[in-house]
Amino acid sequence: MKNILITGGSGFIGSHLVRLMVNKYPNYNIVNLDKLTYAGNPENIKDIENAPNYKFVQADIVDKDVISDLFNEYKFAGVIHLAAESHVDRSISNPTEFIMTNVVGTLNLLNAAREIWKDDFSDKIFYHVSTDEVYGSLGDKGFFYEDTAYDPRSPYSASKASSDHIVRAYYHTFGMPIKISNCSNNYGSHQFPEKLIPLMIHNIKNNKPLPVYGEGLNIRDWLWVADHARAIDDIFHKGKVGETYNIGGHNEWKNIDLVHLLCDTMDEKLGREKGAARQLITYVKDRAGHDMRYAIDATKIKEELGWVPSVTFEEGLSKTVDWYLENEQWLDNVTSGNYRSYYENQYNKR
Ligand code: NAD
Ligand code: DAU
Repeated sequence: MKNILITGGSGFIGSHLVRLMVNKYPNYNIVNLDKLTYAGNPENIKDIENAPNYKFVQADIVDKDVISDLFNEYKFAGVIHLAAESHVDRSISNPTEFIMTNVVGTLNLLNAAREIWKDDFSDKIFYHVSTDEVYGSLGDKGFFYEDTAYDPRSPYSASKASSDHIVRAYYHTFGMPIKISNCSNNYGSHQFPEKLIPLMIHNIKNNKPLPVYGEGLNIRDWLWVADHARAIDDIFHKGKVGETYNIGGHNEWKNIDLVHLLCDTMDEKLGREKGAARQLITYVKDRAGHDMRYAIDATKIKEELGWVPSVTFEEGLSKTVDWYLENEQWLDNVTSGNYRSYYENQYNKR
């Protein structure tokens, strides 16, 4: 049995990946290390928590002694690192936490891996999961490629860019067997409702205003979260060491068009009058430094590893809406407590 560490496995993408790995690879011991911040939720992986090849450890990747002890105990053969502070708006109000977790935390994991691998890297992998936001902001045309120069513009993307550079430095300097992927915006079940799609679903359901930043003209490239998890599995097992893979859905949507589609889908599913939800749209002050457009060229992963998205956006979005409507208790649990005060702060300052 190989011990494989997944960090951030109680969050949105991490929970989809942990489920896939636990079910698909009975010969791996999957250890999920998660601090359980506001974004980490044990409920996300309740269905596999008693699997014989799964173990949960609550820990903070910023605490280097704890991380080092854990690596010494489990002698991990592979690491898939997703733990991060992930919300751009929170990085604008509290950059320090992003530098600590995303930069210092990643460094601690690299050092702990190096310490137990003792520079004998045969059959070892350190896989760092990153974002397309490191490449900056596109105009009307063009795509992000694996060799696009980094140009991060928010504290979040700067912290992720920083961690990508450190991971690559460990490859070049110490020969650490690393892989990196940079993915576009994910959507699907179990996403914390501070992010655009679940936030809009939650507000439409409750007849609350739908806060669209600026004029709603910014563009994102949306990918079904389970397809991201499949891509991570492919890269972890078949990707080349030292390489970067871009992951994306070739699925660009202007924010306002996406919100309209969500409104119309939900009116229909909730049996409300056509156009009812659109009336809730409220244009609010723009996000500071708001990146205009992201778009991934995913040719490399398609040609080298045969990965392509498995669902259309319309299909995925419809399933996503159904999931949130059927899991009211999950939404109520995560929107109670601390999240309420974050929400009031974020949207009342405009
Ligand atoms: P998320 O915010 O839903 O989950 C992050 C998880 O990390 C949570 O479970 C949280 O408890 C944990 N965590 C945070 N700080 C920690 C710390 N100091 N120690 C241990 N655990 C900690 O994030 P997500 O959307 O699932 O993103 C996961 C990863 O994928 C991140 O690295 C993010 O940058 C990257 N990514 C996200 C997207 C997206 O659209 N959401 C797209 C591309 C890349
Ligand atoms: O591109 C990958 C990135 O996608 C990930 O690295 C991040 O972790 C993830 O959060 C996401 O970042 P975005 O900033 O693109 O996602 P968010 O859901 O916050 O916003 C999507 C778009 O919608 C963006 O243009 C801002 C806008 N928006 C967002 C919120 C929360 C609104 O108009 N209103 C809102 O209330």
